[in-house]
Amino acid sequence: MPVSLQSNKAILTHPSGASAEVYLYGATLTSWKVANKERIFVSEKAILDGSKAIRGGIPLVFPVFGKGKAPHVTAALPQHGFARISQWKLLISSDDANTVTAEFGLDHTLISEENRKLWPFDFSLVYTVKLAAETIETKLRVHNVGDKSFDFNTLLHTYFLIPDASKVKVVGLSGVDYVDKVLATTVHQEGDIVLEGEVDSVYANVKSDVQIPYVAEEGGVQVHLKGLSDVVVWNPWVGKAAAMADFGNDEFRKMICVEAGQVAEFIALAAGGQAAMSDMDIDHDPREGQRTVEAGQPEGQIEKDDLDHLFDLDDSELDKVDNPWMTGAKPISSNADGGDIHQQLMLYYRHFFPFKPFFQWLNYDSKICWTLMDETFIRFQSYRTLEEFKNDMIRLNPAKFDLGAIYNIRPKDRHMVRPAAFIPVAKEMVFDIDMTDYDEIRTCCKGADVCNKCWEFMTVAMKIIDVAMKDDFGFKHILWVYSGRRGIHCWIADERARKLNNDQRKAIVSYLEVIKGGTQQGRKVKLPNTLHPSLSRSFETIQEHFRNLVFESQEILSEPENWEKILTLIPDEGVQARIRRSWEDSPNRAPSLKWTELLDSIGNEIAQHSAKRQALEHLPRDIMFQFTYPRLDDKVSTNINHLLKSPFCVHPKTGRVCVPIPIEDCEDFDPSSPPTVPQLVQELNQYDATHPTSDDDSNRLQDWQKTSLRKHVEYFERFLKGLSHETRENKLKDGASSKSLDF
Ligand code: BG6
Repeated sequence: MPVSLQSNKAILTHPSGASAEVYLYGATLTSWKVANKERIFVSEKAILDGSKAIRGGIPLVFPVFGKGKAPHVTAALPQHGFARISQWKLLISSDDANTVTAEFGLDHTLISEENRKLWPFDFSLVYTVKLAAETIETKLRVHNVGDKSFDFNTLLHTYFLIPDASKVKVVGLSGVDYVDKVLATTVHQEGDIVLEGEVDSVYANVKSDVQIPYVAEEGGVQVHLKGLSDVVVWNPWVGKAAAMADFGNDEFRKMICVEAGQVAEFIALAAGGQAAMSDMDIDHDPREGQRTVEAGQPEGQIEKDDLDHLFDLDDSELDKVDNPWMTGAKPISSNADGGDIHQQLMLYYRHFFPFKPFFQWLNYDSKICWTLMDETFIRFQSYRTLEEFKNDMIRLNPAKFDLGAIYNIRPKDRHMVRPAAFIPVAKEMVFDIDMTDYDEIRTCCKGADVCNKCWEFMTVAMKIIDVAMKDDFGFKHILWVYSGRRGIHCWIADERARKLNNDQRKAIVSYLEVIKGGTQQGRKVKLPNTLHPSLSRSFETIQEHFRNLVFESQEILSEPENWEKILTLIPDEGVQARIRRSWEDSPNRAPSLKWTELLDSIGNEIAQHSAKRQALEHLPRDIMFQFTYPRLDDKVSTNINHLLKSPFCVHPKTGRVCVPIPIEDCEDFDPSSPPTVPQLVQELNQYDATHPTSDDDSNRLQDWQKTSLRKHVEYFERFLKGLSHETRENKLKDGASSKSLDF
């Protein structure tokens, strides 16, 4: 009998002499022998009576890797889930000329009542073990047989038996980022992995063929992992080994876990869906006395389709949407402006979004938060490749997306560490200036509306903050971005700025803060008699704009209800009443004359009552500050964790692109000028109509390059160039200093 069931385990025997053993408890493969040599490690202290997961072999991790984290539904499940601690069934056994196969099954009816309550989904797992003369294949299929979708992780937690851990080398993961669970940090793998202490590393999204050879005196193995994207490497070393009751103190020298699976992110499996998730071949490989373990996705393309299906990425759907908007020979539908914002965004991400430069900016791994059309938020997204990012953008078609901090760990991997160990380490210093904060002083528009008149408040804010950041703090890489409707964002991207902690951010904000107090507070500015040089400089900008902004465009001194806002700031009731009377007597007098009258009245009062100097002398100056100085939303700036809408989003309400604004053009910026998607479509069609497709230039150009978006993207590219220049210079400096240390 090629497969025999002996009480609690299935024994597979191949005519060549190869054999394998699989416990029904956990469907844990505990032995695989080729030429009478054991390849799989099981601890001498392993408990095999079904009261605890078997320490060794290939325990099956499902549906959660490690310990789940609240609020995810797996939070209360046992570590590594329930598959490895449930009693499986032997479903079928078979053999043919070359292989002996046993198939094991577990479904929701077979797990404990307790685990069923904790994870109330209907599933079935089929685990196939196929033994050949020199290879063994293990494949776990996950089926959702219920009517609701569920998330799962899976992992073939393989313990390999090795002669000497100190000689193990894992190669092929060089260049891959991994989460070091021991140090709770994300690390870039440089070179081979050697064991010199505890190792608990999760390599996510392993794209290429990965080989993990290790030195062995007696031949080796080669492992192909198919359709799996993550690899875990684990050895508990001295400390952890001693802490495990079912593991001998010295046994860490004889094992290494090289585990393949899907653990960095949960896989969502729709009702009725199935996935061949964990698929691994191990070949006996006596070449050059080496054992080689290969992890990767050489055949993964086949499995990838399964994954795409799980993610509902239906290419034919995308094509259907894409066709009416096709560019090139066929113009994009002129009906584009009739399309809803959802359709417009779809077009925008496909044709106009400047993925390449944008990804370059994202490259320092900012966290992205997507807001989908139905107001769903998807947080903590980060991307390693442009393709990955582009695919998600097109698939999710977000209404907007925000950028956040860089963390010590890839945001997507945060569930692998304690919440306290997930730490934001860098983000641009940002400012958010929103026109609604000027509602108490502007008269032309209210709320979300803006016009060219009130936009001047933003111009003043940009000028004042920009020069302060450059002259007072020495920052160079500042990007101003239109928020798409009623405000502006400032991104200071110098390395020094990105590394500021929250206290330092607060200090910068309070350095700039002049307007204090909420809507109830009348007088919001009380500056010292002698201004700090930075405020003197700001005052020059204020003087340039105050008259036009306050007298002309906002007409503050034209109507009693508006000029009252200024009069109530005068603390001297007599002066206040006198000016009011005079203005009421001649309401149509020019605002500049009214203002001169205010200055004169205050001057006279001080001349007659020197005791009033302190209260009145600098009042006009403070009023000018109160009516023109930037109003900052400090929460956005002071918390490194705070998200801010990304440049090049399309504002879902106005349909306008959030374009960068060069500081030298800030005076001329018109908030109604950034392009909308229908406008871009029109420009693109116009370009294509006037440039034959045979034209080389036209073929080479990206769609955004054929539109008015071009100048904004090119400005953004120049900004990025400056930044990368800085990074290069810093690296050179670092290199130079370490060289001098070498001497
Ligand atoms: C690895 C995990 O897969 O399994 C480690 O990355 C964990 O963090 C190890 O310690 C063993 O887990 P357990 O539950 O079998 O002791």
